[in-house]
Amino acid sequence: MREFKVVVLGSGGVGKSALTVQFVSGCFMEKYDPTIEDFYRKEIEVDNSPCVLEILDTAGTEQFAIANKVDLEHQREVDFDEGKTLSQQWGCPFIEASAKNRTNVNEVFAEIVREMNFS
Ligand code: GTP
Ligand code: MG
Repeated sequence: MREFKVVVLGSGGVGKSALTVQFVSGCFMEKYDPTIEDFYRKEIEVDNSPCVLEILDTAGTEQFAIANKVDLEHQREVDFDEGKTLSQQWGCPFIEASAKNRTNVNEVFAEIVREMNFS
């Protein structure tokens, strides 16, 4: 089975851990507990191919922002078009997700596998 190493990066409090835990365990972490470093392993199937993801959840930094918490539409900080345009400039996928209601959580990680599969 192919193994993929994933590192989750982003500013503090944006929801890296909640998104990762929602993906790995299927539950939402309501309480904010800042991460030092956590490691997870999960088997999934992407486009009918089984694979293993080794996921490193990191401590928040200021350099990056991610499109999580799409359930909080009224507190949106990056509008969809701005995110989409930036992802096109960077040549990377853009997916808006919610760790709270599980919107696009599997899709985020499946897309990461596709990116690594075809690169
Ligand atoms: P650091 O570990 O400090 O870098 O933060 P983090 O990016 O891992 O953030 P974390 O996942 O701990 O989430 C911070 C807070 O946001 C927690 O209280 C979560 O419950 C909340 N949160 C995370 N994702 C979502 C989401 O999709 N929707 C809503 N409403 N809240 C979220
Ligand atoms: Mg965290």
